[in-house]
Amino acid sequence: MIGPPEIISLGDDQVTICYPAVLERLEIEPAIGEGVPYKVVYPPQVIEPARLLHFEGLSPDTEYNFEGLKVRTLKRPAGELLACLACVTDLHFGEAVCGSLGSVPTSPLFTRRPGDLAHPQLMNGGAISSIIHAEILNDRSFDYIIAKGDLTSSGSDQEFALFASNYLEKFGQRMLYIRGNHDAKSDSSIPKISKVSHVTNGVELALLDTNITDMTSGYIDDGQLEWISSLESSQNKLIFLFGHHHPFSPDSAKKDPNYFGIEPDTSKSLVNLIEQNRKIVGYFAGHTHRNRIRYFSQTDCVPYVETACIKDFPGSWTEYRIFEGGTLQIHRRIEDPDCLAWSEANRSLYGGLYPDYAMGKITDRSLFINYRK
Ligand SMILES: [Fe+2]
Ligand SMILES: [Fe+2]
Repeated sequence: MIGPPEIISLGDDQVTICYPAVLERLEIEPAIGEGVPYKVVYPPQVIEPARLLHFEGLSPDTEYNFEGLKVRTLKRPAGELLACLACVTDLHFGEAVCGSLGSVPTSPLFTRRPGDLAHPQLMNGGAISSIIHAEILNDRSFDYIIAKGDLTSSGSDQEFALFASNYLEKFGQRMLYIRGNHDAKSDSSIPKISKVSHVTNGVELALLDTNITDMTSGYIDDGQLEWISSLESSQNKLIFLFGHHHPFSPDSAKKDPNYFGIEPDTSKSLVNLIEQNRKIVGYFAGHTHRNRIRYFSQTDCVPYVETACIKDFPGSWTEYRIFEGGTLQIHRRIEDPDCLAWSEANRSLYGGLYPDYAMGKITDRSLFINYRK
């Protein structure tokens, strides 16, 4: 039986609802041999495809009832629309298997069937089409498209060439990117891009490289921290920070030296700098393959955003509409039917815990970002 509908996305003028796919039951047997806890298998077949219902042209801050679900559209921020961005993250070109956590045993592990397009090419192709489709619906081009790292699986030239031929050739000068931990390898020639700003209509986009070569976790070096400090003298009114890794919460009672994101001390330095520079609107990361928004006590309404990956479930990207009086973050799931079939089949990853983890709550996906006074 088809599952209950979920509100996937809210905007000031749109709502997206998804009926999840009905999937074949998955049987997995543990593999025999050390270091391979489970067999790599094909994902479950889709019995009933997911349905995405997208409602456009709605009024801001208004209650609607769609498919029996009560939803309220986001408020529209005051003032002029200054800029529009599209963000993608965790593209993983070159990856052959989904669900691996390195040496940590996980189940299941999915791969594509022989003859099928590799999942990174499928999903990234769908993301690009989805971004272009949104430009048509919005009747406005995105000023920039930003990839927040893990462009590749292993940092190889061949994998980076896939990223370049998909995104750089399509979007040209509008395409910005930073490396993630999968790209920052000692034998990789993918360029480190940091301390670079791109400005459009008084909105400054500041790119950081948060990687430690050959490590999964991240940090921000002194040069980049000094540069963030120097942004205080920027003539621009709004500053958005982008990095692959997410910061450790300075509100946490206990430091975690093995933190998966930016290590605790430099996270604290980052948050101190954001506290001081009230033009900084938010910090926008990838890496965790989940939708999550956190706020820290020092920085009031500044969101620390993580967004889900392109390559598997839920297969989504994020739109930003930056107004003078606030910014809207709108989550967008890749709507191409083949992409949706792949992303839905990947609901079973990580022992079935992935849907709640990766999708997050609606307030982790679509939100109104206030600015500090
Ligand atoms: Fe990743
Ligand atoms: Fe990562």
